[in-house]
Amino acid sequence: MLKNKNIILGVCGSIAAYKSAFLVRLLVKAGANIKVILTPDGANFITPLTLATLSKNPVYTQYFDEETGVWSNHVELGLWADLILIAPISANTLAKLATGICDNLLTAVYLSAKCPVYVAPAMDLDMWKHETTQTNIHQIQSFGNLIIEPGDGELASGLYGAGRMAEPEEIISFLDHAIKHSMPLYGKKVMVTAGPTYEAIDPVRFIGNHSSGKMGFALADELARLGASVTLIAGPTAQKENQILTRIDILSAQEMLNACTSIFSEMDITIMCAAVADYRPKVIANQKIKKQADSLVLELEKTVDILATLGKSKKANQILVGFALETHDEENYAKGKLAQKNLDMVVLNSLNDKGAGFKSDTNKITIFNKALECTVFEMKSKTAVAKDICTAILKILK
Ligand code: CTP
Repeated sequence: MLKNKNIILGVCGSIAAYKSAFLVRLLVKAGANIKVILTPDGANFITPLTLATLSKNPVYTQYFDEETGVWSNHVELGLWADLILIAPISANTLAKLATGICDNLLTAVYLSAKCPVYVAPAMDLDMWKHETTQTNIHQIQSFGNLIIEPGDGELASGLYGAGRMAEPEEIISFLDHAIKHSMPLYGKKVMVTAGPTYEAIDPVRFIGNHSSGKMGFALADELARLGASVTLIAGPTAQKENQILTRIDILSAQEMLNACTSIFSEMDITIMCAAVADYRPKVIANQKIKKQADSLVLELEKTVDILATLGKSKKANQILVGFALETHDEENYAKGKLAQKNLDMVVLNSLNDKGAGFKSDTNKITIFNKALECTVFEMKSKTAVAKDICTAILKILK
């Protein structure tokens, strides 16, 4: 969950600041980009050098560095961050967040940022229990900030009780869990089909099509990025997935049918992006067909329409999305497929649009929903088209 996330780690004046070094290591290990901001008091507990070395980035301690003449832009830093984690946060900084005081770089970045903010308090037992601190905690929670509760244990004062900053590992799993649950498709099971199918003629030949699989792979990646648990059923293609998902490779329309029908009932959302063969050779020769007569007639038979098959068994809480690739009378054919195959949405590609369809990195789509409302999109990269399709699906889910 933390991979490639831009994280600002704020470190305040508390003995728990020594744990920030471990925290930075774990965050870097998880693939996050870390920039550390130390409050002036924080810098009394842990050195910028330690945190800069571990985070592989300069550490910010003030707006203006008199030695280098560098001014740290709090607005830029705030907007850079995907999330802000203040660990440890002291009672003092907590009070500042609650009231809007911004007298140092960290509090100014906090006020400038638009991203989620997590705080891990660390203070002595009675400071933590104090009504002012608890009021401040509730106040910043009401702003949408998330509190990583301190644990019980022996405190720096020698007292025993609540106030110890959560351990770095606990903080990481808190972030992981919170990020997962904030994703719009978290908990949703999604199936995507992609690529062509190959229908064997004999052991060395097949009937195929020009589908590259790019659109289906872009969709699967985007759905996974939105938190869905994605199963990608892929025909023969050179594409590689970028996100973590389950991939099932198939060759023929029959194999795709088997893979789809075996898991369809568990799916919340199914998107059939593959270019499935409509016909296949009726008989597959066991041995290579030798060159003999001047012409060869192959008898073809219809494959099963997978999308229509799934549409028949679709339950009310399942979303089924189909594609329609057309060369003429596009809108009518797309609307026809929506109704005949019992779809919630159909994505129309027209081969008349230059830069749309097979192989290219771009696509131009029109989406029809169940109410036959139509949205026409501009030509975009397939990654951007995948985002548009996912946005339309999220609208259905609302
Ligand atoms: N499809 C399918 N199984 C098939 C053929 C198509 O699941 N045997 C799905 C495709 O994945 C796509 C949709 O049906 O989501 C429409 O595919 P398309 O090729 O545009 O249309 P067809 O229904 O096959 O009809 P036609 O070829 O006559 O346009």
